[in-house]
Amino acid sequence: MNATICGLPSPPRLRLARLPTPLEPLDGLSRRLGGPRIWVKRDDLSECAASGNKIRKLEFTIAQALAEGADTLLTCGGLQSNHCRATALLGARLGLGVELVLRGEPHGVPDGNLFLDRLTGAVVHAYPARRYQQALDELLAAHAARLRAAGRRPFVIPTGASDAIGVWGYVAGAAELAEDCARAGIGPAQVVCATGSGGTQAGLTAGLALAGLATEVWGIAVCDDAAWFERKVHADLGAWRARYGIALDVDRLAVRVLDAYIGAGYAQADAAVFDTIGLLAREEGLLLDPVYTGKAFHGMLEEIRAGRFARTGDVVFVHTGGLFGLFAQRAEALAAGVLGAAGAGDVH
Ligand SMILES: Cc1ncc(COP(=O)(O)O)c(C=O)c1O
Repeated sequence: MNATICGLPSPPRLRLARLPTPLEPLDGLSRRLGGPRIWVKRDDLSECAASGNKIRKLEFTIAQALAEGADTLLTCGGLQSNHCRATALLGARLGLGVELVLRGEPHGVPDGNLFLDRLTGAVVHAYPARRYQQALDELLAAHAARLRAAGRRPFVIPTGASDAIGVWGYVAGAAELAEDCARAGIGPAQVVCATGSGGTQAGLTAGLALAGLATEVWGIAVCDDAAWFERKVHADLGAWRARYGIALDVDRLAVRVLDAYIGAGYAQADAAVFDTIGLLAREEGLLLDPVYTGKAFHGMLEEIRAGRFARTGDVVFVHTGGLFGLFAQRAEALAAGVLGAAGAGDVH
């Protein structure tokens, strides 16, 4: 029998992630807050170093690359891109070349994700932020042309693998989450994730609708504003429906984005986000990163405290990974007081 996802025929897929990931309650924190029971879908456990949300998308993206005969993955992101790091590791695992077009100029010893990119042997092309922002498409096209001229067969993966193909990652992730919820006997009022390029939110929104779960999906924006992400998520869903002939009226799906928690900008976390990161580490032994999950979890807690999310029942946070980004910002974390007022973590 051919594989299906939410009742739809599955496109080519590689099994790369360790699935299903656990769905776990955070009972200590939930008691402390006195609101709904908070659950975490542990997609930070989807692999070891290739962990996080991107591996779910890349199961489909890299399968498509192989179906098209590619031998090199070419993708892009920030210097600390989790997506680029996951692509670099999975490319190495599959014997594919990997080239990364990165935004920003590396200084000093490579840290976090960039260190892992280098460790895998991925070829890194770094550009000043302004040039990257103005010319990303041309840069990718030029590197793809260079690779082709050298006899390679590159497959270009867009930012965050958020496109028609990548949407499948979280449509399948939503089907898994729906099964988790059924097993746990819960029907969460909200499912919350960090939104950086929109693909995770797009897949969750479509997948949970297809799975028949009456839950709101909320994306906490980490960079651009809500209007930008609403357009991006709808565009990815529209492209997915068109490419695969999906009979789901994606234009009618509610795309809910909160942009009040971006702070000073992408990858810039304020003291409140670091407080949340410290709190979760101490109270739950759960690690969040300052770029994505720390901001998103902080936003979710603020919404719960303000009574805008469910006051009782269940809320699910999709932990999309990003741990290595915490190491790259340990100086910022310490300066912001991540260890807490009581001197937690002091060395005696
Ligand atoms: C750790 C982490 N969480 C969340 C996101 C956001 O996911 P998406 O790009 O699908 O919006 C990203 C990447 O952007 C990420 O690296």
